[in-house]
Amino acid sequence: MLNFDLIIVGAGLAGMRAALSADRELNVALISKVHPVRSHSVAAQGGINGALNPEDSWENHAFDTIKGSDYLGDQDAIEFMCQEAPGEILEMERLGVIFSRDKNGRIAQRPFGGAGFPRTAYAQDRTGHALLHVLYEQVLKKKTRVFEEWYVTSLIVEGGICRGVLALNILTGELEMMSAKAVILATGGYGRVYSISTNAVINTGDGMSLAYRSGAPLMDMEFVQFHPTTLKKSGILISEAARGEGGYLINAPGERFMSKYASKALELASRDVVSRAAGQEIEEGRGVEGCVLLDLRHLGREKILERLPQIRSLSINFAGVDPIEAPIPVRPGAHYSMGGIKTNVWGETEIEGLYAAGECACVSVHGANRLGGNSLLDTLVFGRQSGLRASEYIKKSTPPPPSVQFYEREKQRLSKLKSKKDGEKIWPIKSDLGNLMGSHAGVFRFRDKLAEAEKAIQQLKLRYQDIYIQDKGKVFNTEFIAALELGSILDLAEVIVKSAWAREESRGAHYRSDFPARNDEQWLKHTLAYYREDTPRLEYTPVTISKYPPKERSY
Ligand code: FUM
Repeated sequence: MLNFDLIIVGAGLAGMRAALSADRELNVALISKVHPVRSHSVAAQGGINGALNPEDSWENHAFDTIKGSDYLGDQDAIEFMCQEAPGEILEMERLGVIFSRDKNGRIAQRPFGGAGFPRTAYAQDRTGHALLHVLYEQVLKKKTRVFEEWYVTSLIVEGGICRGVLALNILTGELEMMSAKAVILATGGYGRVYSISTNAVINTGDGMSLAYRSGAPLMDMEFVQFHPTTLKKSGILISEAARGEGGYLINAPGERFMSKYASKALELASRDVVSRAAGQEIEEGRGVEGCVLLDLRHLGREKILERLPQIRSLSINFAGVDPIEAPIPVRPGAHYSMGGIKTNVWGETEIEGLYAAGECACVSVHGANRLGGNSLLDTLVFGRQSGLRASEYIKKSTPPPPSVQFYEREKQRLSKLKSKKDGEKIWPIKSDLGNLMGSHAGVFRFRDKLAEAEKAIQQLKLRYQDIYIQDKGKVFNTEFIAALELGSILDLAEVIVKSAWAREESRGAHYRSDFPARNDEQWLKHTLAYYREDTPRLEYTPVTISKYPPKERSY
């Protein structure tokens, strides 16, 4: 057994920020199923929000975020995040992040959807890349022990307290028991529940599933963000920055259709609004081969090359379109999870000793719809908070080491899964699930479709019990890891669908065609989902309203 004070699972921005804020005296392990700089944070493009300009204010940022959340975000948590934002961005700059500059040499900020002020700081269209590499340098400088290409298969929770993890060394296939006085989950999102997604293939929501299966509730899982502009076929992200820099969305007849849906903000309305508009144009036959078009031509070559170089190369390489010369075909795709493991602003979950931060957590600062540029901020602010709070907790706690029975039980479970000699391969189950989620729990939802999806997921769970892993080897058995990941996404799909079926209103990213209006009287509340083997148990809890009473949202 390996012993640590603190284990952080996930080495994206939230995990590495937690590692940096953890007390220097502690023996910390940072575990990631990929090399840290391959974490999905590296793919974040558009930027990070913070009221840096003296003409802006954290209060304006908070208001825009609350309105963007369709009033489901907890207002105290949102105020805290927005107050912390400028300091956190400057701290990143101090550590070495090279942000793009304005003509006066200050950190440049671009307009983003749902924001009343240009408040998104950026590094061209590679902001996540710039941040992640700097944090990794700092983690190395701090000499944090990194377990790269290790996969956590379960949490050790004994007597209601989290005492460590069981993890597979992907290189050797050996299972290891790792004890700790506290564990922080920072494992990112579950975009791969859907076939069409901006997310990396690693985004299978493992941390959410680990916490859920250990008894922690998942909150607001019905709220899945669909990004309006993902590239035709591949679903690769085409950053909101392209619209922030002035790009237009047009339909087949060449109309700038957003004027019908958001007459003031147009393409820079909040994401849920723009995704529904693009989806409606496509459904009503005004699309172009299942897409709408993002036109950047009027920005000119120089601006595209200076501000959006990655968008250009992605469009050329993956869709054969040079945006300097032709509009890019795009459509809505799954992008982000507003829901996640329920935490407070210190990353504390309902399990003692277990913390969560970043996309796998739900604080809740995004409510029913996240504003672009607020996710990088969330990872940094709440990654830091959880590292600080876990460090304080560790100093006060002296848990006995976990019992070895956890190891034996897990070893048996894994070898049973691997040794089966026949059954179904995992890939058809994964693609059936991804397609089902897109057609039945996508941008537009309807009671009967959700009920159908619930039943279909039960069938997929049965098929999952009969899976067969062809690769019986130990070394780098990616098929085996993918089988474990499939277990995670099945758990989460079930929670998303059940929560979406139960919420009979439309709010933010959750649009019910059969209940098209928001209903504050009955539904201004968070959904909590607790694990049960047959089907999740749902409960509800109030939203914290501080200064901003819910109003109708218009852009
Ligand atoms: O469009 C984007 O660049 C995405 C940003 C975000 O999700 O915050």
